[in-house]
Amino acid sequence: MHQRTPAAHVYPLPTVCPTPPEPGGAGTIGPRPEYPRTENDVSAVTPDLNARHGLNPPHSEVVAACREIQPGKALDMGCGGGRNAVYLGQLGFEVTAVDVNPGGLAMLQSIIDAEGLSKVEARLYDINEAALDADYDFIACTVTLMFLNPACVDAVIADMQQHTKPGGHNLIVVAMDTDAYPCPMNFPFTAKPDQMKKMYAGWELVKYNEDVGTMHNGARLQFATMLARKPS
Ligand SMILES: C[S@@+](CC[C@H](N)C(=O)[O-])C[C@H]1O[C@@H](n2cnc3c(N)ncnc32)[C@H](O)[C@@H]1O
Repeated sequence: MHQRTPAAHVYPLPTVCPTPPEPGGAGTIGPRPEYPRTENDVSAVTPDLNARHGLNPPHSEVVAACREIQPGKALDMGCGGGRNAVYLGQLGFEVTAVDVNPGGLAMLQSIIDAEGLSKVEARLYDINEAALDADYDFIACTVTLMFLNPACVDAVIADMQQHTKPGGHNLIVVAMDTDAYPCPMNFPFTAKPDQMKKMYAGWELVKYNEDVGTMHNGARLQFATMLARKPS
């Protein structure tokens, strides 16, 4: 595992990483969406390494995005134990998975070693630094932005955009705080209505919504979900 010293301004991480709502996932309202099965689908990934190693399934928006995009060089921002990184690696992406939590990275590294996932790299990195050092076809940042230092978020997104190859994609899922649905969680950062959309002006919005979901504790809040494609 590549080691990099995190900066001193890392925000304290919650002892329990809240499981955010996903469309049709456990604890959410509404019907589970019926997605067409294609080549890049969870069902196409065998063996199911996530299940084998006790990881949750990949985020549903990562699965959906992989129906739109071809495998290439991917960055998983705030990878946790690696549920998305392992999935992307199985689909043929060359994955850099970064997190500030050594425990999650150690779990991912053990899976990499056990399964010989030579195209997945687990790396200690503080996203607040906004100092990416490579360019990517796909950057996934699912339910991670809200844990960052709010003062760093603009720079983090600008850095993600700068390090996305022409024609490449960014996927963001982030909790919102709105008048209609004040965020009930004490996240350091939450998105405002249209904030993500505005930050990606000039990019093609392949998908954008600010849907309401329900947490396992019954709390309801909005999430901004965005898959954006950088102009070629
Ligand atoms: C809710 S978890 C989401 C994990 C993963 N993206 C997923 O979809 O399952 C948030 C992750 O962000 C990581 N994180 C929080 N602040 C970070 C920072 N400053 N730099 C890197 N990772 C960070 C946490 O350690 C945690 O693994």
